[in-house]
Amino acid sequence: MTEHFGTIESHPVHHAGAPETYAPSAAFREQARINDPSVYWRAAEDPENYWAEQAQNLQWTKPFTEILDWSNPPFAKWFADGELNVASNCLDRHVAAGLGERVAIHFEGEPGDSRSITYAELTHEVKRAANMLTSLGVEAGDRVAIYMPMIPETIISMLAVARLGAAHSVVFGGFSAESLRARIDDAEAELVITSDGGYRKNRVSSLKPTVDDALALHGGGSTVQKVLVVERTKNDVTMVPGRDLWWHEEITAFDGDHEAQGFPAENPLFILYTSGTTGKPKGILHTSGGYLTQVSTTHKNVFDLKPETDVYWCTADIGWVTGHSYVVYGPLANGATQVIYEGTPETPTWGRWWEIIQKYGVSIFYTAPTAIRSFMKLGSEIPDQYDLSSIRVLGSVGEPINPEAWRWYRDVIGAGSAPIVDTWWQTETGAIMIAPLPGLTNLKPGSAQVPLPGISATVVDDEGNPVGNGRGGLLVIQRPWPSMVRTIWGDDQRFIDTYWEKFGDQYFAGDGARLDEDGDVWLLGRVDDVMNVSGHRLSTAEIESALVEHSSIAEAAVVGASDPTTGQAVVAYCVLKAQQELLTDDNAEAELKKHVAAQIGAIARPRNIYVVAELPKTRSGKIVRRILKDLAEGREIGDVTTLADTMVMSTIQDKIAARQ
Ligand code: WT7
Repeated sequence: MTEHFGTIESHPVHHAGAPETYAPSAAFREQARINDPSVYWRAAEDPENYWAEQAQNLQWTKPFTEILDWSNPPFAKWFADGELNVASNCLDRHVAAGLGERVAIHFEGEPGDSRSITYAELTHEVKRAANMLTSLGVEAGDRVAIYMPMIPETIISMLAVARLGAAHSVVFGGFSAESLRARIDDAEAELVITSDGGYRKNRVSSLKPTVDDALALHGGGSTVQKVLVVERTKNDVTMVPGRDLWWHEEITAFDGDHEAQGFPAENPLFILYTSGTTGKPKGILHTSGGYLTQVSTTHKNVFDLKPETDVYWCTADIGWVTGHSYVVYGPLANGATQVIYEGTPETPTWGRWWEIIQKYGVSIFYTAPTAIRSFMKLGSEIPDQYDLSSIRVLGSVGEPINPEAWRWYRDVIGAGSAPIVDTWWQTETGAIMIAPLPGLTNLKPGSAQVPLPGISATVVDDEGNPVGNGRGGLLVIQRPWPSMVRTIWGDDQRFIDTYWEKFGDQYFAGDGARLDEDGDVWLLGRVDDVMNVSGHRLSTAEIESALVEHSSIAEAAVVGASDPTTGQAVVAYCVLKAQQELLTDDNAEAELKKHVAAQIGAIARPRNIYVVAELPKTRSGKIVRRILKDLAEGREIGDVTTLADTMVMSTIQDKIAARQ
């Protein structure tokens, strides 16, 4: 099936005065890991060789002799004849180098418990877990689903799976039983690793019951043989005999002897599901050698990491790609010391994050614009109460950062001097693609700026021709990169159709972008039916199909409306079935929000739901979402002449006005 994309028009960019830029301080540049601009042209001259050099920083059990195999596009292979073990690159290698006593993870639980785990301890625990998983039948090539809170065992589980050459599929703990089950089925996972629960907002958020519900759906039969349960919150859970096992009971039988075996560079490392333009999430497949090369290189260079002295903290949940690449694989491959935090930023107070930075002396901090805007709304009084002087680099990811939030982030969190690296990438790219290098780039608030060394990205028009500086169009990546998505799990055709059909051998990212007069890239948001809510991707089609599954709903249309905190918010318009008694104007909004959260997960819960008599459609019956978006964003609605019935809009407008 082909996915359809809108386009944005190529347009000139008008500059009002000189652009605001922030050059690196002399002191920062001096000490920076990368401070010689020749890195860009040296990489551009021979990108494959550049990446091969980076790959040499990893430990290979069998050295590679091939770099890139692009003989069968768009199916890339990197370092294909080489072999390595991803987990031992993140663990044993550092211990062997004498770094076993370095802290790998400072874990901060939401209730205030904390644990610091050294590289030696983490290696030991992963080896034990690998032995335990082997006893449960996990072998190279298998898939293991992981549905966990932000606790060290989540990282231990991922690394143990990787150590065995199996692939993990981490499902964000906020997803519903339905969503979890769809992901388990698609990946044909044989084992689920979960926990009784996790702490969120001062409460126990239970996870195991959702796994039970997921496995009971569709008559119960699934590929899952065993469920391994980590004890975290001690809430009541039901253990199914023969299927469910407690981690802490099983693990006692296993010691820390485990020899890691090398696997081919293209061995699958993980599948991670992300929303597309259709209702069915895409299983993005990442493999081993190229992925680890690019996540470790970018983590070091973009954040100017000094593993001996830095304390790094990325606030992303491990259930998203940022957690995979910049909590688990990048930092651990680099031997970094990092913080992970289980809970939400406001628990017990809105000072929690700043307290954690002060406690551990965090020096590199990586978060999302939506979080920055939430803090900004509360003012600088809260962060001002903490000592944040350890911070020297700030990162941003997930959506464009508006200049106002950028300045607040730099001034209030970064003492007016820390460089901010705005990192553009995607689940599919696996690692950062476009970002400043903090020792080199003159920063421009709101722009991700420059493709990293070894990456060639540009902006093209609808025909795939570069638009040139000062113009807008569609973002493409022109050459294969090591951490690129290899396929959509089980659906090579969808992989081709989604990313490669439009521009042939150039990867179509789905984002609009423009190049300014200096050639810097400004991201303009998605050009397909994908919304970006709090830096998370949601599909309009997926939420629409969840809504029409409700017995009272005849039709639904969903749009992403701009929102001052979350970037975009989900707004739904629903038409009720003629013969239904369940929903009234008064209870519909609450009931349908609950329904969407139960179907997909709380992240997909619409901000507004409007029950309307009819949806605006063209004469050929296509819903005109553009008009619904204008309405949701409180704008004067645009041209309605293409509508079959122009009266529909005035009745919808009346309805919305009545509810406000
Ligand atoms: C989409 C990818 C990258 C990990 C988190 C999201 C948007 C991401 C930026 C940025 C502007 C950004 C794009 C992209 N996006 N980072 N720095 N500036 N837009 O991963 O869920 O795969 O979403 O997020 O629209 O396509 P994801």
